[in-house]
Amino acid sequence: MNYENILSEHANGITTITINRPKKLNALNKDTIHELHEAFDEANNDRDTKVIILTGNGEKAFVAGADISEFAHFSINEGGKLAAQGQTLLFDFVENLSTPVIAAVNGFALGGGCELALSCDIRIANVKAKFGQPEVNLGMIPGYAGTQRLPRLVGLADALYLLTTGEMIGAEDALRIGLVQKVVEPEELMDEVMKIAKIIISKGPEAVKKVKYVTRNGYESTFEEGSELESKYFGSQFQAEGEEGMEAFLQKRKPNWQE
Ligand code: COA
Repeated sequence: MNYENILSEHANGITTITINRPKKLNALNKDTIHELHEAFDEANNDRDTKVIILTGNGEKAFVAGADISEFAHFSINEGGKLAAQGQTLLFDFVENLSTPVIAAVNGFALGGGCELALSCDIRIANVKAKFGQPEVNLGMIPGYAGTQRLPRLVGLADALYLLTTGEMIGAEDALRIGLVQKVVEPEELMDEVMKIAKIIISKGPEAVKKVKYVTRNGYESTFEEGSELESKYFGSQFQAEGEEGMEAFLQKRKPNWQE
């Protein structure tokens, strides 16, 4: 499929989706959100894609936010609709994909850009990356669930600090509060993310999908409900691929996962 605002490439089990509006610091306009939805959907339905990587083109930005020029004069209804549609098409959509998604944060991840990184499963940043929820600077609040995902990820205190001050923090501070999992030099970012993707690809493919599903669903329900879901999938994995994985361990060989 041909896209105007993004690039999507597939190699060795990995689909890399790159937001490609570097002159606008990869700001998310409506068309980009729709194209991202299509590309994520296609990658998730592709049997050869085991991991999806999301990054931004250029040296400056992952995503500098939702495209302010598109909604500066919106009415109350239009604003509410924008947020709800974005959630359905992109932010919730990415979070709920069965395929793991890694954000390779190569620069500014602000507003919707930070929220998009939050929707991914793993975040790796380069040392130049900057994170923030600057909506209050514009007299706004986040619209793509930043108020919900950020405190769940970094805790209430650090989330409220970022949300109320609108302050940008660097990659090392993002690492300290648990917003990202690793920080590397800019030239090492894609190699590091590919390395992580390859580790995930080497695992039981069904187990990876199930562990994401159970963890994400359990996190949003009670401990008992989450544990029940875990027991159910723990059981089903014996037949799905656990037999091969454990047999391979006992025979001291690499597992032969069925595709
Ligand atoms: N929406 C629309 N356009 C954006 C944008 C956004 N969120 N972020 C950056 N851009 C555009 C700028 O308008 C500019 O376009 P122009 O060259 O046509 O004037 C271009 O991207 C480059 O940005 P610029 O501001 O010149 O770069 P900078 O290096 O001086 O500053 C930022 C970088 C990220 C600090 C600054 O662009 C910024 O504050 N962006 C908005 C961040 C934000 O509030 N995001 C949340 C939105 S709800």
